[in-house]
Amino acid sequence: MMSGVIRNKHIVMGVCGGISAYKIPELLRILVKKGASVKVLMTRNAEAFIGKTTFEALSGNPVCVSLFDEKSEGSIRHISWAQEADAVIVAPATANMIGKLANGIADDALSTFMLAVTSPRMICPAMNTNMYENRAVQRNIDILESDGYTVIEPDAGELACGVTGAGRLPSPEFIADRLQKLLYDKDLLNKKILISAGPTIEPIDPVRFISNHSSGKMGYAIAKAAEYRGAEVTLVSGPTSLCPPIGVRVVHVKTADEMAESMLGNMEQSDIIIKVAAVADYKPVVRAEHKIKKTDERLSLHLEKNIDILKVLGERKKQQILVGFAAETQELDNNAQKKLREKNLDLIVGNLVGSTASAFGSDSNKVTLYFPNGEKKSLPIMGKDEVANILLDHIAGKVMTDDDR
Ligand code: PMT
Repeated sequence: MMSGVIRNKHIVMGVCGGISAYKIPELLRILVKKGASVKVLMTRNAEAFIGKTTFEALSGNPVCVSLFDEKSEGSIRHISWAQEADAVIVAPATANMIGKLANGIADDALSTFMLAVTSPRMICPAMNTNMYENRAVQRNIDILESDGYTVIEPDAGELACGVTGAGRLPSPEFIADRLQKLLYDKDLLNKKILISAGPTIEPIDPVRFISNHSSGKMGYAIAKAAEYRGAEVTLVSGPTSLCPPIGVRVVHVKTADEMAESMLGNMEQSDIIIKVAAVADYKPVVRAEHKIKKTDERLSLHLEKNIDILKVLGERKKQQILVGFAAETQELDNNAQKKLREKNLDLIVGNLVGSTASAFGSDSNKVTLYFPNGEKKSLPIMGKDEVANILLDHIAGKVMTDDDR
């Protein structure tokens, strides 16, 4: 869910006159549901597509269309809203508004407001393909990017005008996700992070396998948070039912051997490696070619040890920061610290499994962080997205210390 960063934040949404303005109430609803306080500024042209009342009802705040529409505070609202904004988004951004923002023109409430904004700004261009590809529009978008705007590229597809091409406003869920990213400090900017998540499955025959209860939620939460914080993330994932996090390169694997190949192959170019996956420690010695028939009362399976991927990563480690996880049912401290030492790790995250509110499958987790100097830090039960961010805080701190050396 990753809603923490947006809770209690002041977001101002600028809405321009485009057919895709119909998607904006849903975007507003998503942001409000995540706990943001949202205020809407709309152009006169936007009113031709969607009513002010809809935004007032969904945001619970007055909507500003003109600098002069509220006698008491209208003429200074653009300043006070700009001052309190944590982030500003213009969606849909029309060619006209993009041109005005790129050239500092302030001839309506929204363009005037935008000149007063100092918080992070994001625009979502949406228009007919030929308009979008027009040199003048592209030039203006380039100016906005070099002025520090985050520009969300439109989707390609069939547009309202019947043309097929680039110009469609992305989904409200996608825009909300990118807006959340805007709110994060980019303390892992350009760091290459390699993460493994989910279970591995070890086939017994064509229809059966050995596996475990890992849902992938913990590893995916870390991948998502790292991408929000500016990292280039590769996520090596065992089979899960989760959606790939936006902006993350996902490599899908099934067995421990496949996971090992991908992790070891990506190791050299990584700055940070976090091994969250629950790897099956054993695999069947022989994978039956056909479905094993139910004949005898008892069936023995011969298993052999899988490669310990994290141990090999620890042996080959050079400049990388290497982080492991330990899922234990007893003696968490001893077992986690033993793995930290034996696998040559910079940090290990221990979690006791068994409770429904933590570890396998749940949205929350209760973890303890163990460090090579013997220190440990126990965290209360919290969402896996919060665990992810606290873990990344420690890693970012270590990155900064190492960079200073
Ligand atoms: O996926 P979720 O449902 O969100 O659940 C999260 C989790 C419980 C899976 C996660 O928090 C966690 O604890 N992951 C590690 C699980 C595990 O396999 O622990 P372990 O103690 O068996 O392994 C220790 C470390 O060695 C882990 O980093 C593991 O990835 C690694 N390992 C283990 C065996 C092996 N053959 N190769 C490895 O690399």
